[in-house]
Amino acid sequence: MQTVHRTPAIAVVATTSRDIQTELLIIPIFEDDTLQDEAELDSASGGEVAAARARGEFKAKPFELFFTAVRGWKAPRVALVGLGSRKDFTDDRLRRAATTGALAARQRGVTRMAIIDRRDTGVDAGRAAQVLAEGAIVGNFDGASYRTTDPPRVWLESVTLRVTGDAAAVKRGLERGQVLGECTNLARELANEPGNTLTPRVFAERAAAVAAAAGLTVDVLDEARIAELNMGLLLGVARGSQEPPRVVVLRHQPAGAPGAPVLGLIGKGITFDAGGISIKPAENMDKMKDDMSGGAAVLAAMSAVSRLQAPVRCVGVIPMTENMPGGRAFKPGDVLASADGKTVEVLNTDAEGRLVLGDALWYARSLGVTHLVDVATLTGACVVALGKTTTGLFGTPDSWVEQVRRASERAGDRSWPMPVFDDYKELFKSEIADFANTGGRAGGAITGALFVKEFAGDLPWVHMDIAGTAWAEDAKPYQPKGATGVAVRTLVELALGVDTWGKL
Ligand code: BES
Ligand code: MN
Ligand code: ZN
Repeated sequence: MQTVHRTPAIAVVATTSRDIQTELLIIPIFEDDTLQDEAELDSASGGEVAAARARGEFKAKPFELFFTAVRGWKAPRVALVGLGSRKDFTDDRLRRAATTGALAARQRGVTRMAIIDRRDTGVDAGRAAQVLAEGAIVGNFDGASYRTTDPPRVWLESVTLRVTGDAAAVKRGLERGQVLGECTNLARELANEPGNTLTPRVFAERAAAVAAAAGLTVDVLDEARIAELNMGLLLGVARGSQEPPRVVVLRHQPAGAPGAPVLGLIGKGITFDAGGISIKPAENMDKMKDDMSGGAAVLAAMSAVSRLQAPVRCVGVIPMTENMPGGRAFKPGDVLASADGKTVEVLNTDAEGRLVLGDALWYARSLGVTHLVDVATLTGACVVALGKTTTGLFGTPDSWVEQVRRASERAGDRSWPMPVFDDYKELFKSEIADFANTGGRAGGAITGALFVKEFAGDLPWVHMDIAGTAWAEDAKPYQPKGATGVAVRTLVELALGVDTWGKL
C-alpha cells in the first residue's frame, strides 16, 4: 500500500506576496474584489489577471482556480482561488481554499507552495493560521491505493503561510491547525481501509499505538473482559463473526484539570457491516467498510486533545466488531441483555450500531464521565433527512446540543439539530423486552437516536449521526472522494472550548 498522507513542514512569514520564495503562490480572491486590490498582481502577470476577469474566464466563484505566471516575483507561478462573494465569507471558505490550492498544486507536481492570508477578511491572525494549516494538510492526503501500477505520489514537502498579526496567537493557531489537520487525515486513513485489513483486532492495535504516541492512557478490553462486564449487546452483534470484538478505552487526564467535567466520547466501530442475518443487498455493501468512521473520529480526536493538552478530562470508548451472518450469529427475534440490565428484542440485526453504542455508553458512564457525545454512521434515514453534507445532531439538553453545534461550526463540519420528542419512543416498543432495536421507516434516524439515549442515563448527551457525512461520493475541489474525517475537529473544538460549556 502507498502512504496516504504526509504532514508538510509549515512556516509562517509576514512578507509581501512578491517576496515569498516558493514554487506556487496561492492567492484567495473574492468575486467582488476590485482590480485595484489586484493591481500589483495584475502587472506582475503581464495583464493576464485583468484579461481573464474581463473575459469572464475567472469569476472567483467559490474554489474556482486560475493559474498564471508572474514576473519579478520570487515565486514563478500564482494560483488564484475563488472565495465567492465577500458577504458570504466564513473562515471555512479560507480552510477550503487552502485545501483546493493544495490538491491542485499536487496534481501539477508542485511540492512547495505558499498561501496568502488576505488582510481584509476580518479573520484574526491566529485563526487564519489555524484554518490555513488545517486546509493545506487535509489537501496532502490520498485514498490508500493497493494498485501495483500506481506511479509514486506527489506530496507537499513545505508550505509557507503569509499571515500577519500577533506572533504568539499565530504560533498557537498554527500548532492547532497542524494537529487538527493530521488527526483528520488519520481518521480518513482508517475509515478508508478495507474490512479485511482493518479487523476489530487490528483496529484496536492501531488505536493503542496512536494513543500511546499521543500520550493517552489506553486500555483494550478483549472478548473475555467484555463478557465479564456483561456487554450482551456488543457480544450479540459479534456472535456472527469469526473475529472477536474489542473495546478500546482512551483517557486524557491533564495535570491540574479539575475532577469535573469529564467529556465522554463514544464512537461506533463496526469494521464491516454486512447487516448480519438481516443481510444487506449486495449493491453498495462494500461501502460498509467505513462503518467504523465514528470510532476513527473518536480515536483521532482523543489523540488531538492529548497533543494539544486540552484543559479538560476526556474518556474515549470505541466498541469494535464486525456485523456478520455466521452460523452462530444473533437472529431476528433474539432477546439480548445489555450491561446495565436492560433487555432488547432484536427485530433487525442490521440495526447493530445502536446495540454496540448502548453498552459503550453504559461503560463510559461507569468510568465517571459527566457529558456524553457519541458519533456513529447510524442510519440511512439520516442520509434521507439531511443529505450527504450535514451531520444530524440529536440530544438533550438543548444547551449541550447547541454547544456541539457551535463546535462543529468552528470546525467546518456542517451539522444541524433534529428532534428527540418522547412521542417517538412508542415506535420501538417491544411486546417481550424493554424495547426493540428498530422503530420502522418513519423517523428512522430519530428512533435510532432515542434508542441510544436509553443508555445515556441522566447525563447531557449528543448523538452525531454521520451516516451521510462520513464518506464523500463525489469529488469536490476541496474534498476528494472517500472518507472525510468528519467530526474529528468538532470533538476537538468542543474539548478546547470547555470554558464556555456552562455559559449557554
Ligand atoms: N451502518 C448502517 C447505516 C448506514 C446506512 C450508514 C447507509 C451509511 C450509509 C446501519 O448499521 C444500518 O444498517 N442501519 C439500518 C437501520 C435499520 C435496519 C433500522 C438502516 O439505516 O437501514
Ligand atoms: Mn447495520
Ligand atoms: Zn452499521
